[in-house]
Amino acid sequence: MVELLAARGLDSSDEWIVERTGIRNRHFVADGMQASDLAFQACRAALAAAGLKVSDIDLIVLATSTPDMVFPSTATILQHKLTQAALAEGDASGAGGAAFDVQAVCSGFIYALTVADSLIKTGTATKALVVGAEVFSRILDFNDRTTCVLFGDGAGAVVLEACEHDGSGAGILASDIHADGKHTGILCVPGTVCGGAVLGDPLLKMDGQAVFKLAVGVLEDAARAVLAKAGKTEADVDWLVPHQANIRIMQSTARKLKLPMDKVVVTVDQHGNTSAASIPLALDHAVRGGLVKPGQTVLMEGVGGGFTWGAVLVKM
Ligand code: ACO
Repeated sequence: MVELLAARGLDSSDEWIVERTGIRNRHFVADGMQASDLAFQACRAALAAAGLKVSDIDLIVLATSTPDMVFPSTATILQHKLTQAALAEGDASGAGGAAFDVQAVCSGFIYALTVADSLIKTGTATKALVVGAEVFSRILDFNDRTTCVLFGDGAGAVVLEACEHDGSGAGILASDIHADGKHTGILCVPGTVCGGAVLGDPLLKMDGQAVFKLAVGVLEDAARAVLAKAGKTEADVDWLVPHQANIRIMQSTARKLKLPMDKVVVTVDQHGNTSAASIPLALDHAVRGGLVKPGQTVLMEGVGGGFTWGAVLVKM
């Protein structure tokens, strides 16, 4: 990345990036790969971990700000890819039910979880794939060192399942989501498609300092609100899985909530800011790595363009 910037006459260094953000590595998709391809891999891994087949799924909610197309939704493209793979492997039927995208930028996974949980609780769906998938490398301005060093591509997924209460109390305990559209200008991609051409600017713009200040405030508010809704306190939180944007934002949130950093799952060093994919990527790392265990209470929270923000409290 630093070499890429230097080739464009932009000055940066690994030291600056690591010190200001905590980011050491990022991943960019190959040409021709789309958000649905990353989502496909993440969903296959989530289904395998849950011991389920694609045909068991009756809802797909996919959070992305970098969809494959203007329409149809990336969720429906993903549903087709999952179905084709299942049929090729001899599964008699593919995924059915509803599939749609949620667009809440870096809060997308929190929004998607909240929507899927609500549809399960109202009986509309029984087993849901909830996915965050992004190809932010496609909307970065590689002439802008203040943004292009921060973002990466990735996807993460979970399966949510309706179940009878088994006494464990496991499941989503509470959600809290918000938006305030007056902050559009500090984090946006201000382009659109019209008459077959891009109107405006299709690359990401961000006022980093303004975003930073807003983010630390609303992340504290969302954490306190979701805990209050669930009748819990900070002391009940075993793990904080925050949006992986910047290590300093995570440290600040942890400090305000009086949570030690060893209760905070940090993966921003491995993949940078992957927007809606960052929380499920961090959760996957923590679950597969044996950090998060059944019975523990996990607080996930995100903040992003819109401005949007929110939190979900889960008992694993
Ligand atoms: N390399 C070297 N220097 C740089 C770079 C770079 N890549 N980028 C900026 N600088 C310079 C600036 O030009 C500035 O120089 P100056 O003092 O000569 O003017 C100096 O570094 C300090 O810049 P600041 O903007 O004050 O740096 P800051 O400490 O605020 O860090 C950062 C910038 C990392 C962007 C931080 O503000 C941040 O993380 N903001 C939040 C981003 C975020 O959380 N986004 C989440 C939502 S994302 C979504 O929803 C899609």
